[in-house]
Amino acid sequence: MHDDMIEPSGEVRRAPGETPLSATAQTGEREVETALRPRRLAEFVGQPRVREQLELVLESARKRGVAPDHVLLSGPPGLGKTSLAMIIASELNAAIRITSGPALEKAGDLAAILSNLAEGDVLFIDEIHRIARPAEEMLYLAMEDFRVDVVVGKGPGATSIPLEIPPFTLVGATTRSGALTGPLRDRFGFTGQMEFYSPAELEQVLRRSASILGIDIDAEGRAEIARRSRGTPRIANRLLRRVRDYAEVRADGVATLPVVRAALEVYDVDELGLDRLDREVLEALVRSFNGGPVGVSTLAVAVGEEPSTVEEVCEPYLVRAGMLARTPRGRVATGLAWEHLGLRPPDDAGGLDSTSSSLFD
Ligand SMILES: Nc1ncnc2c1ncn2[C@@H]1O[C@H](COP(=O)(O)OP(=O)(O)OP(=O)(O)O)[C@@H](O)[C@H]1O
Ligand SMILES: [Mg+2]
Repeated sequence: MHDDMIEPSGEVRRAPGETPLSATAQTGEREVETALRPRRLAEFVGQPRVREQLELVLESARKRGVAPDHVLLSGPPGLGKTSLAMIIASELNAAIRITSGPALEKAGDLAAILSNLAEGDVLFIDEIHRIARPAEEMLYLAMEDFRVDVVVGKGPGATSIPLEIPPFTLVGATTRSGALTGPLRDRFGFTGQMEFYSPAELEQVLRRSASILGIDIDAEGRAEIARRSRGTPRIANRLLRRVRDYAEVRADGVATLPVVRAALEVYDVDELGLDRLDREVLEALVRSFNGGPVGVSTLAVAVGEEPSTVEEVCEPYLVRAGMLARTPRGRVATGLAWEHLGLRPPDDAGGLDSTSSSLFD
């Protein structure tokens, strides 16, 4: 996404949110991700619900000899939406055309792509919630009637020429399905809701990735990385590469449990997969505001970050891990947060009780 900035001191300043634990893809990461992408549904680890549902959609279309219904894949970054889109095409033995919402600024951009599709092709639109309005309206007709209206000329003399397009399957991916308009959402025949992965599933992802990349890591080492990867394969794969670096430079190349632990310490990844900023947010919440409630902008000032960084980068995982709650009155630390910092919640803390469930239970 962004390039790291090198300060005059030689220190690397990372782009906002670009820590070893951010779930979005980072600079130069796309290539290695391509190498690690599962190619077939059977190779795709986890997501049992989505996989089963998708198998049925694809198999039934195959039996009837038609292009399957349009598919929407929704879920947080790094859980395998792009990988699944490509798998759908290969399971169908179909060609895939790839574009993204932000690239479709004008209806003409989309018209050019649609009119070049062949029968049965898969059209993948990543970040489909960011598609521009005119292109979105063109997409409605294309999805429903396999037709586009091409407007020729300008002003009162403009005419629209209907153009048939061959039946195709649209696969849309979005990290924010709530931002999709109703009409667009309704035109998908199937929505796959991607879930975070369990540590056991991430171990499988790691085993596969280690063998592809030729990294020597034992089962305990894999389990440790899996536990700290925030339920996200992209993060697991990234931590695996950082552990490999450490193992090659500071150890004999084998990633055993102590090597993994030492490596993750260097990269500021703690026991639960929190990084420095996450911990700063929790510390501020607990120590400066007695556990809250406190507004997100006040909290952001306390840690010297933009409110959007705190809100979009730190909070989703802290909430999911059961350490932070978003309440109408502000952010609140749970008992688990106090515990994680090695503190006892005071009786009058604004925080919730420690019975709130954690994903690590
Ligand atoms: N189920 C899986 N099995 C094995 N590897 C996976 C799986 N899901 C994701 N990965 C790995 O994680 C990386 C990120 O996956 P992918 O790019 O498909 O995520 P995404 O959901 O499209 O993310 P974004 O929202 O940022 O586009 C890929 O390199 C892939 O190797
Ligand atoms: Mg993607």
